[in-house]
Amino acid sequence: MDVSRLLLSFILVIATPGAYSDSSCVHLNTESYKLLEGEAFYYVLDEVEPNLPDENMTWFKNGPEIQNITTDETQMIHYHGGALLFLNISVNDSGHYTAREITPGGCYLYHLKIAVYNGSSGENLNYGDNKISDLNKRVTCPDPVVKTCTAFNGTFTWFKGNNFLSGHHKNELRVDNATKKDEDTYTCVCTWKHNHKEYKSSGSRKLFVPDPIVNSNVEILSPSEPEQLVEIGASTVLNCTVFCGINAKRGCDANWHINGKPVNQMEGYNETKLLTEQPSGRTFFTAILTIEKVSKEDFTHEFKCRGLGYYGGAYKNVTLIKTETVTTLIIKIMCVSLIGVFTTALVKYFATDLVLLFRPYFTSTRHKKDTRMYDAYVVYQTESLDEETEETLSTFVTKILPSVLEDQCGYRLFIQGRDDIPGEDHVEMVESCIKQSKRLMIILTPGSGSKMRSHASNQTSAIGGLDWQVGLHHALVQSEMSVILIQLGETWPQDYAHLPLSLQHLIRKSAPLRWSESSKKASEGNSRFWKRVRYLMPATPAKKNYIPAVI
Ligand SMILES: *[C@@H]1O[C@H](CO)[C@@H](O)[C@H](O)[C@H]1NC(C)=O
Ligand SMILES: *[C@@H]1O[C@H](CO)[C@@H](O)[C@H](O)[C@H]1NC(C)=O
Repeated sequence: MDVSRLLLSFILVIATPGAYSDSSCVHLNTESYKLLEGEAFYYVLDEVEPNLPDENMTWFKNGPEIQNITTDETQMIHYHGGALLFLNISVNDSGHYTAREITPGGCYLYHLKIAVYNGSSGENLNYGDNKISDLNKRVTCPDPVVKTCTAFNGTFTWFKGNNFLSGHHKNELRVDNATKKDEDTYTCVCTWKHNHKEYKSSGSRKLFVPDPIVNSNVEILSPSEPEQLVEIGASTVLNCTVFCGINAKRGCDANWHINGKPVNQMEGYNETKLLTEQPSGRTFFTAILTIEKVSKEDFTHEFKCRGLGYYGGAYKNVTLIKTETVTTLIIKIMCVSLIGVFTTALVKYFATDLVLLFRPYFTSTRHKKDTRMYDAYVVYQTESLDEETEETLSTFVTKILPSVLEDQCGYRLFIQGRDDIPGEDHVEMVESCIKQSKRLMIILTPGSGSKMRSHASNQTSAIGGLDWQVGLHHALVQSEMSVILIQLGETWPQDYAHLPLSLQHLIRKSAPLRWSESSKKASEGNSRFWKRVRYLMPATPAKKNYIPAVI
């Protein structure tokens, strides 16, 4: 191998990496075709002058080896200027062809890619679709076929599927009053002659006949309600969906306006749009408005969903309504409960005062007259008390109790020990006085439990015991009088252990009212303690109803 040939092959390697290329040339168009084996294919470069001398143009097939194409008309593949002819194309002819044009102005490269299939390959060789509409009632023969037929003065024939359509010899096929039945693949075949030999070139298109178009009046499907509940600060979505008709894409639109302004450029709002055509042809348009964070102002805005169709529009307004957040709801429930509890407590606390306040207005008419002589029969423990307790009890029973209930409130009490009439039969007297009393007031004293228990067995508290027994009998068994329990000083549960069982039961049922000597208001009728006592006392003092026969 000499040096010059080595140099040449080196240059070729640089210049042709796989496909032919020439860095000084300008690459122009690339076209691609799918062709049927056995037909003829005539390809013309539109950009090239029709009568360009063959010397100014070279055609070749790219590949591992570049194959130059001849101008020899007897060859299956040959060219003339800007036209390339495949007389009987075969699968092997598939590939990338290039035309190189040299003009005084420069060098141009044109590219053609063809793929050849045989008839049984099943490959879709259509040149695209034809859609029949009111404005277009034709299937057009594909361009390369028309050019071939024009150049060689050939004849057109048409096929619908595999069926020959007689009488049609134009470069387009009119389809009048198209229905779904006309949908098919239409093929135009051009038969032409070259050097007294006959060739065929064909091209197919698929024809679609759309469903009839029904443009209805626009119907707004969403929003369905004029109000939408939202939480302040939350994000929300407003759906504007309209129905435009059947196959009614044309002019179908929907959008949102806020206070009359289109939403698309407002900050904080985002609108996405979508046209939906169902297989049945039903056409919808949806505009989704997203409010990233609902503000106070949004509750005053007017959100308008506007639908547009072929024949006009419709709209629907939506306003946002504030809903309670879960937190505010919980707080509200808690407040209401608290107020409820507070009110109940208040009413309970002041119930005594309220009853005392209104009692004079209601009782006299509502209750039938009770003619018993005493308002209360007062019993207390007389035996086994220590000195301090005895003093307290004595002060309470002889001074404070009469001072408040009798002097201040006008009640009449029978106080054991004070009101006993000497010389009378004690048993009889107790019996009749208790019968004449509306309440049994039992004064309990503290800390005497243990002593009481020891004495109880000796019957030392016989006098007190009798009062108590008769009283409790009337109160509990005959239910003639209610019991008022008053406790002097502190007590503990075990302090009641010595008392009769029935009394213990009473104590458990309602706690005794506790009187404390040290309290400042111990002897004032309007203290809490005395109000509670008065509450339990009869509404109308006995004096008002009872007129004593003997004074
Ligand atoms: C909007 O409303 C339409 C009609 O009610 C409904 O079909 C669609 O699913 C809704 N879209 C969204 C995103 O909520
Ligand atoms: C609007 O919403 C769409 C879909 O959710 C999103 O892709 C887009 O980024 C949003 N645009 C703006 C401006 O937030």
